[in-house]
Amino acid sequence: MRTEYCRNISTKFLLKKVCLCGWIEKIKNFGHFLFFYIKDITGLTQIIVKKENIKKFKKIKKLKNGFCVQISGTINKRSKKNINKNIINGDVEVHAKKINILSKSKNIPIDLLKKNKEKNRLKYRYLDLRNENMQKNLIIRSKIIYLIHKFMQKNNFIHIETPIITKSTPEGARDYIIPSRKHIGKFYALPQSPQIFKQLLMISGFDKYYQIAKCFRDEDTRSNRQPEFTQIDIEASFIDEKKIKKISENLINKIFKKFCKIKFKNIKTITYKKSIKKYGTDSPDIRNPLKIIELTKLFKKNYILKKNNNKIIGIYISKKNNLSLKKIKYYKNIIKKYNINKVFFIKILKNINKINIYKNIEINKKIIKKIIKLYNVKENDIIIISITNKKNIYKIFGKIIKKISNDFNLIDKNAYKAIWIKEFPMFKKNKNGKFSTVHHPFTLPKTKSIKKIKKYPNKILSKSYDLIINGKEIGGGSVRINNLKMQKLIFKIINLSKKDQKKKFGFFLNALKYGPPPHSGIALGLDRIMMIITKNLDIKNIIAFPKTSKSSCIMTNAPNKIEKSFLKELYIKTKK
Ligand code: AMO
Repeated sequence: MRTEYCRNISTKFLLKKVCLCGWIEKIKNFGHFLFFYIKDITGLTQIIVKKENIKKFKKIKKLKNGFCVQISGTINKRSKKNINKNIINGDVEVHAKKINILSKSKNIPIDLLKKNKEKNRLKYRYLDLRNENMQKNLIIRSKIIYLIHKFMQKNNFIHIETPIITKSTPEGARDYIIPSRKHIGKFYALPQSPQIFKQLLMISGFDKYYQIAKCFRDEDTRSNRQPEFTQIDIEASFIDEKKIKKISENLINKIFKKFCKIKFKNIKTITYKKSIKKYGTDSPDIRNPLKIIELTKLFKKNYILKKNNNKIIGIYISKKNNLSLKKIKYYKNIIKKYNINKVFFIKILKNINKINIYKNIEINKKIIKKIIKLYNVKENDIIIISITNKKNIYKIFGKIIKKISNDFNLIDKNAYKAIWIKEFPMFKKNKNGKFSTVHHPFTLPKTKSIKKIKKYPNKILSKSYDLIINGKEIGGGSVRINNLKMQKLIFKIINLSKKDQKKKFGFFLNALKYGPPPHSGIALGLDRIMMIITKNLDIKNIIAFPKTSKSSCIMTNAPNKIEKSFLKELYIKTKK
């Protein structure tokens, strides 16, 4: 039907006869002539219907924005005053000789050129997706997926699809469940990830697996979380964490090099513990110039420090960040809201006079010298110091440095920085006193000692890791348990009785009896990668048909009520 896409309409082809197909935008009818844009997936082209041709088109008055049309005409240069530098082919126009209305349109309920209310955008998503930015995002997504397949296949990974209608695969969220018609009273679950299946594939001997996998988690949505999302899921046998890091790094570099023209060089690895102590979080944005510093050791042990396990923790703010002591002091009250009362703001001066910050704890020349040496602090830098025994002081300071850097725009938003965090705690204790795993329960503990794991579960670290880019968790994975005894122990610690273990994971425990190879893996969040690459803060903008914050779809009205007769077939009772 068409000879060209809009992208190809340029001054190179002046006077060429072309036929374009697309939708009318920004129509203006001046009576004696008419112009509008025609839009296709590649862009816009201005169409002019000149006086001599207007009469030929009987239906010309009926043309409206949103009509789907086929235009035949010739490419012409625009007059100088009509050149539009904002669009690629803004120096040309097509003089229409024939317009064929392919289908009509009601008035478009959203303005494709302006910001629209989210509710409207999602209700008319098929129209919202005509927006150039949305189309750009989804085209990038498609290209990234192509790149991933190319990279993984080249590295001998095999793409294998795992079931969508399946049994619960725990990742810490609630499952979406599907009632079975053929097995009344029984349910399938949608996979939270392909975790167990990819491990089974390792037992099958597939050696290197990957999948662009859909995952489903019934949890509260956030700006970077959807109930249905996509992972680049990877698993391989006979390799360790280092190899998984290398593969992830190479893949990420392929993607970021192509779309952001940058390369992450040797992504730094730090432990979870160090990350908390330095950045106050396990997903640090290492572009943030503010850091947490540990000062306790610089002070002689005195009764204040001995008493109640007090620590002296600081935040270091370089003078390069142009923040005065006055500006920083504003944060005193914010810090105090976290019940941290002993907070002091100090400017680093080599010739500082003795300052007694609290009781007999003093900052003097000697201490300043030590701080300068240890943290490469410079004259006139600022440090915020707190004396506290609060265990969560690091996390509190993590929030404070995030706030200060946001308030004063200290983060270079055009930079990309990545960090690999490893050795997360194996377990966390929940409010009910029971343990659950920090990553999933198939993660290998760092220690092999069953005795230690049994005795001190809260002290056990795991062979797990996360990849963080610009403060966003892009991926997570671990070395896996390939030992039946260990797997059963982990299940036991997270309070799964033998009966429950058999009921929920019997098939998997059985599989572990048949020579499971040592294996490791990771899953990278495709949507999160997309968010960073397209600089979108809202995950909805990089997914064609996303859900709202209440996990519903305004366009289709999902979730919706099901006919009673259908429910009856499933033996599901409803309220009258
Ligand atoms: P995890 O649960 O850490 O690990 O998920 C891996 C990555 O998936 C992305 N992600 C999400 N993206 C959008 N919306 C969500 N609701 C969402 N939840 C997670 C994140 C995250 O880092 N099976 C393990 C991986 C493994 O051990 O191999 C897993 O799913 O970017």
